[in-house]
Amino acid sequence: MCGIIGYTGTRLAAPLLLEGLARLEYRGYDSAGIAVVTPEGELAVRKAPGKLRTLVQELEGGLPHGFTGIGHTRWATHGPPTKNNAHPHADCAGDVVVVHNGIVENYLELRRSLIKEGHRFTSDTDTETIAHLIEKALPKAGSLEEALRSAAGVLRGANAIVAMSRREPCTLVAVRLGNAGGITVGYAEDGMLLASDLPALIPHTRRLAFLADGEVVAITRQGARYSDLAGRVLEKGPKTVQLDPEAAHKGGYPHFMLKEILEQAETVTSALRGRIAFDPPAVLLEEFPLTPQEVREIRRVVFVGMGTSFHACQVARLWMERLAGIPAEADNASEFRYRQPLLDRHTLVVAVGQSGETADTLAGMEEALRHGARLVTVCNVEGSQATRRAEGALLMRAGLEIGVAATKTFTASLVTLYLLALHLASQRGRMSPQDLLRHLEGLTSLPHLLGQVVAHREVYRSLAQRYAQREHFLYLGRGMSYPIALEGALKLKEVSYIHAEGYAAGEMKHGPIALVDDRMPVVALALQDPLYDKMLANISEVKARGGTVIAIGTAGDADLAQRADHVILLPPTPELLSPVLAVVPLQLFAYELAVHRGCDVDQPRNLAKTVTVE
Ligand code: AGP
Repeated sequence: MCGIIGYTGTRLAAPLLLEGLARLEYRGYDSAGIAVVTPEGELAVRKAPGKLRTLVQELEGGLPHGFTGIGHTRWATHGPPTKNNAHPHADCAGDVVVVHNGIVENYLELRRSLIKEGHRFTSDTDTETIAHLIEKALPKAGSLEEALRSAAGVLRGANAIVAMSRREPCTLVAVRLGNAGGITVGYAEDGMLLASDLPALIPHTRRLAFLADGEVVAITRQGARYSDLAGRVLEKGPKTVQLDPEAAHKGGYPHFMLKEILEQAETVTSALRGRIAFDPPAVLLEEFPLTPQEVREIRRVVFVGMGTSFHACQVARLWMERLAGIPAEADNASEFRYRQPLLDRHTLVVAVGQSGETADTLAGMEEALRHGARLVTVCNVEGSQATRRAEGALLMRAGLEIGVAATKTFTASLVTLYLLALHLASQRGRMSPQDLLRHLEGLTSLPHLLGQVVAHREVYRSLAQRYAQREHFLYLGRGMSYPIALEGALKLKEVSYIHAEGYAAGEMKHGPIALVDDRMPVVALALQDPLYDKMLANISEVKARGGTVIAIGTAGDADLAQRADHVILLPPTPELLSPVLAVVPLQLFAYELAVHRGCDVDQPRNLAKTVTVE
């Protein structure tokens, strides 16, 4: 959480920092701030509570002048979202400013002892401690870089920090400690940049270097110098990353979320591209690190992730068992990391995450490594911490996802996980070439079908109009559709603030049915699969109690229309692939309801795109 940007070069820093913060606002929007070193050698710090636009309005009278600066957009952890708590934070003398992402776990103890030593604090944040620690270290350290290294030595927790001093006016220094989200270094024509995330960098450069845990970087307009926490110089340089800068714009849509939902035919194509052969049928996953022999030695697969990625894990678990015949589990990473899971070298752990920076998922990965399990990640961000820690990274290739609600990365992760299950199935001799061919054909039909599913937005708009004032929804599914019911409920909650719960439909009679009345709409996933009849029975039970049913079914199903109040029909697709299509109406429904209720769709309250604290 929190967006960080820094620049030093030949361009004016302030406009560049504000533009970068606009691209990072999805990381947090409780307050925003910038600091620039002026030609007079002063630090001009400007900050405002609330969204970035408040700061921009306040700066309409004039931007601070200077060529080196840092900026921050905050997702509050310590202290309310006030101006005082906005970053950048300064030391007592006003010589040093810092921006920060993460949590200084021992900040109270550090703060108390700094106060005893005479330091004056002006905010409630843990971040301000870092500025004072640097101030304290500077006389002995001699340089900002050394002082930051010294401060880093006493901090506990996962933290990414960028610091600037008016006494070294053309230098920025940064450190990454643990998994608090990344710091990426950008090598542009007119200078050097630092940022917590790629959208702020790619308009300027695609030549990037990623800081790993325990690495320090000092940038000047001429380049970057890398070192470790002990001060040893590291050989490190940029690599060129393929990313489309256009993807960071809304492309004419009112919200990123809508754009991202509608582009799923393309992103699924992108996830499949180059990974399928038909003659003979094969899955081409070069990035998968295990040899065929090692694949045969796998006895169990554990999928871990959070939020939407956890739902993808729950679908993948079913695929792994059905397609590859390997016992599989899906675990919420925040539970997995603490539950002392039984893992060994015959266990394959698959960490799923859009960002590759989610703290709990990264901790789950460390747990896997500690036990000698095999570890791969399915991830959307090349160069992220997850891709560096895993033995192999299967990229989702969905392009940047800016909307806080994950949509296109969910379907991209699903098809990537399906490919993984097919790959293991064929390497273990579980699947005939004919069967593999059938599955591959199913996968390649998805983009076309997704195109059909997103074509009828007016249906969702009219449903939204009708149900926008309801405060509770139930989502029901069985089998492959159960994780999709969970995901549909999550989407509704996060963007429209309507309370929603997803249930395995078989659970209904064990409690949730008590909630059903004419004020509680039920979204039922009733696709034509082996559990269809059971779902029909559940729908009838809801109807018998006066409930309203919005059903997602399969084209040609006349029965469903008789039983449900509203029916959305999807093109027929093989049962196992149905989750990839079935989630899309639920994404559109959540989106339209949120728009109708006037919610901030791309930046829902209290959320951040990347959850880098546990
Ligand atoms: C999804 O809409 C949410 N924004 C959230 O649940 C998200 O999926 C979760 O935080 C995991 O993020 P990751 O995929 O980047 O690890």
